[in-house]
Amino acid sequence: MGTSNQFYKTNDYRAMAYPYQITSLEQYKKDYQRSVDEPEEFWGAIAENFLWRKKWDKVLDWNFSEPKIEWFKGGKLNITENCIDRHLETMGDKPAIIWEPNNPEERTRVVTYSRLHKRVCQFAQVLINNGVKKGDRVCIYMGMIPELAYAVLGCARIGAIHSVIFGGFSAQSIADRLYDAQAEFIVTCDGAYRGAKDIPLKSIIDDALIGNRTIKKVIVYTRTRTPISMLKGRDVWWEDEMEHAESQVEKDNIVSFPATEMDAEDPLFILYTSGSTGKPKGVVHTIGGYMVWTNYTFINTFQYTPGDIHFCTADIGWITGHSYILYGPLSAGATSVMFEGIPTYPDAGRFWDIIDKYKVNILYTAPTAIRSLMSYGMDPLKYKDLSSLKTLGTVGEPINEEAWHWYDEHIGQKKCPIIDTWWQTETGGTLISNLAGVTPAKPSWATLPMPGVQPLLVDEHGEEVTEPDEHGMLKGNLCIKAPWPGILRTTYGDHERCRTNYFATYKDLYFTGDGALKDKDGNYRITGRVDDVLNVSGHRIGTAEVENAINMHAGVVESAVVGYQHDIKGQGIYAFVIHSNVHGDEELTRKDIFQTVSRVIGAIAKPDKIQFVSGLPKTRSGKIMRRILRKIAEGETKNVGDITTLLDPGVVEEIIKGKL
Ligand code: WT7
Repeated sequence: MGTSNQFYKTNDYRAMAYPYQITSLEQYKKDYQRSVDEPEEFWGAIAENFLWRKKWDKVLDWNFSEPKIEWFKGGKLNITENCIDRHLETMGDKPAIIWEPNNPEERTRVVTYSRLHKRVCQFAQVLINNGVKKGDRVCIYMGMIPELAYAVLGCARIGAIHSVIFGGFSAQSIADRLYDAQAEFIVTCDGAYRGAKDIPLKSIIDDALIGNRTIKKVIVYTRTRTPISMLKGRDVWWEDEMEHAESQVEKDNIVSFPATEMDAEDPLFILYTSGSTGKPKGVVHTIGGYMVWTNYTFINTFQYTPGDIHFCTADIGWITGHSYILYGPLSAGATSVMFEGIPTYPDAGRFWDIIDKYKVNILYTAPTAIRSLMSYGMDPLKYKDLSSLKTLGTVGEPINEEAWHWYDEHIGQKKCPIIDTWWQTETGGTLISNLAGVTPAKPSWATLPMPGVQPLLVDEHGEEVTEPDEHGMLKGNLCIKAPWPGILRTTYGDHERCRTNYFATYKDLYFTGDGALKDKDGNYRITGRVDDVLNVSGHRIGTAEVENAINMHAGVVESAVVGYQHDIKGQGIYAFVIHSNVHGDEELTRKDIFQTVSRVIGAIAKPDKIQFVSGLPKTRSGKIMRRILRKIAEGETKNVGDITTLLDPGVVEEIIKGKL
């Protein structure tokens, strides 16, 4: 049980038990085997622990060739009844969300399960009042404030499909996503606080809406009191709408708003993510399977115990925030810390202050954040207690051993198991991870698959790799053989794209895009993407997307983008650019290109380095040899590979000479 403190009362609610929590290595092995041998019985029994209005007709129906994946089809439920209503009787006063503002001087907000229920019902009513119906797409572009949680869950309550867009994306990116999702409604804020910056969210939305004819309503919450334009008939204030809805959902102090009955296979949300080609795709998750998967993985990987305070530092604009700030923890009746700011504001001790302030038991963050905080030395850790911590987790990219050990020693004080959770936007929740304190950790290894997950390493022809290398490891492209409940169902509006992206590279397998090693004990180590996708500070960015943005800049003839190893970000973005005329001022042109990329995608996609070149290494058929550019970007000067097949081998030397 957690320690009593000013923010929540312990032991005044009945402990919620998780009968499917794995508590020993033996049980893990048994459950894993059962999940593979009898998946329907296994997942059916777990799903019994949730609130269904009507039980499913069939646990699982699938083929990867279309793909068709259906979990708990015919089952009727509402995910918000599972995340909120079912906890009210026993845990109404328990904090669901503890909110920490960007500015540490500002007041904390504690949202109990009853308060969350009220606000979600109220906002669901606001959506109805504004014409939102089941199945409509609602785009959410807000900072990390409790209202973002109300907006997401309010959508889920009425069966509207939410699509959260991270606050770092540009107006153009938003416009593309709105169009792709055919969204008719937006929920946003005047602005968002992030560190020392204010992000003018509403004004970015206004830019995204120039010429837009499909958006009917924009609901605007006041956070920063930044002056904004409000268009009559289209833009409405959150506060006014909520006040109006309050009297509709609350009578005689009783809050009620009937949750819409949904099918397990109805879509819950769309989340856009980058791939190796073209524009980001809208990954679609459905209700039943996603709920079971996020809950199951939350309880088992972190070994969540009722009363624990869970702090996931991700933004809800990414899948990590969806699954492990909101749906996983809330469906488990947990207390989830939501942080508005950034790890280095007002100083690099901010995470540690938050941990001490709320007596956080579980910290889940990204290797890039750990490396960045490491770079500040030990000073920010002075006078920090951190003794409340029980479990640490990482996600988003491979963690290097140095960062792992620093995390273990200085944050976990050598007494907290560290879980390395490998997963993707498409997988809904964790697929490969140790279970905290239950299955062994191995620094920089994600280790073992979760029950229900059957990984397979294949070579480029799709043949299973069976011959260990000289270190006794199997090495190959990571695929998964069968569906788990949280797998994506489609990419919005384009099922064929889903098939070709994930299910067509290798027959009858889900292809992850990652490479991996497997040791003789069955542990997996993820080595990184094997496609043209970069992982910059845990954010996924397609090289093609960045190139398209750079190429939109006037004067740019052609560009090629590759990743290179970056001490803090994991990968940095290196752009080789042919520009027709840099006006004798390369530095200015570089800045112009940054601006263009920021406009087209967002500041997160800005290249770290731009090298102007007169040509790119191309084969005679005109294909850019990225392999060579990757080597050059990594600092290789001699062995850049075979250049004899190049149209103009001389260009390679020039590029090496100009390397930044
Ligand atoms: C890609 C997915 C999962 C939520 C955050 C990122 C990389 C993720 C790990 C890990 C090594 C990891 C993979 C994956 N990745 N977690 N523990 N170890 N690599 O979600 O944006 O969909 O990116 O992140 O390359 O394919 P995403």
